[in-house]
Amino acid sequence: MQQGYAPVLCVLAVLGLEAAALGECELTRLLQDKLQYEMRLQYMKHYFPINYTVQVQYEEVLRPSNITRLRNGTVSEAALRYLWFHVSSQAVLRIHEVLPEKHPSWKYTQELCQLFDALGEEYSKYRQTDVETVVADLVKLIYSAGAESRSKAVRPKALLDNCLKVMRMLYGGPCRWEFT
Ligand SMILES: *[C@@H]1O[C@H](CO)[C@@H](O)[C@H](O)[C@H]1NC(C)=O
Ligand SMILES: *[C@@H]1O[C@H](CO)[C@@H](O)[C@H](O)[C@H]1NC(C)=O
Ligand SMILES: *[C@@H]1O[C@H](CO)[C@@H](O)[C@H](O)[C@H]1NC(C)=O
Repeated sequence: MQQGYAPVLCVLAVLGLEAAALGECELTRLLQDKLQYEMRLQYMKHYFPINYTVQVQYEEVLRPSNITRLRNGTVSEAALRYLWFHVSSQAVLRIHEVLPEKHPSWKYTQELCQLFDALGEEYSKYRQTDVETVVADLVKLIYSAGAESRSKAVRPKALLDNCLKVMRMLYGGPCRWEFT
């Protein structure tokens, strides 16, 4: 699990296979559609108990401010996308795993997982030696959740809000998205 691409582990054939043929821009575009405000609100807030939170590690919280900080260092854009991918797929998995199959948000998070799985194919080309040490270390931390790692309670919607905001920062330019 600690090298390169770790599968998101909620693979399902249909969408997975079709989506795997698409590139990074198409896949993130599909993610953007799935993460639109109304859906995040409904599936990640209204369908959960009031103030519900999931436990995540500190490194699993990736906000625009983290990106600004890392960009100011010498971290490449490719490495930042690699980091965003690992943080976000892990966040979606955290939410997915607390849901029983009959929960109204189950299918939604399953579909997000499939998109991340497909995107993972793109990132399977990367090795940790290809990205800056600071990013490689963060990704390693994400998968080495031990008893000693500090955790934090975060609302499911907040995780996806960050996922979307950071995705826009990282893909908006290269994928030529027009923001409305
Ligand atoms: C939810 O959190 C808000 C503040 O974040 C608090 O004011 C409110 O009482 C909480 N509601 C419940 C039901 O715990
Ligand atoms: C983002 O910044 C917060 C502090 O603001 C920190 O706790 C967290 O680990 C950072 N996330 C990453 C992935 O670097
Ligand atoms: C960026 O780096 C410079 C020099 O290392 C520092 O002075 C500045 O505060 C940094 N800006 C941000 C937003 O971190």
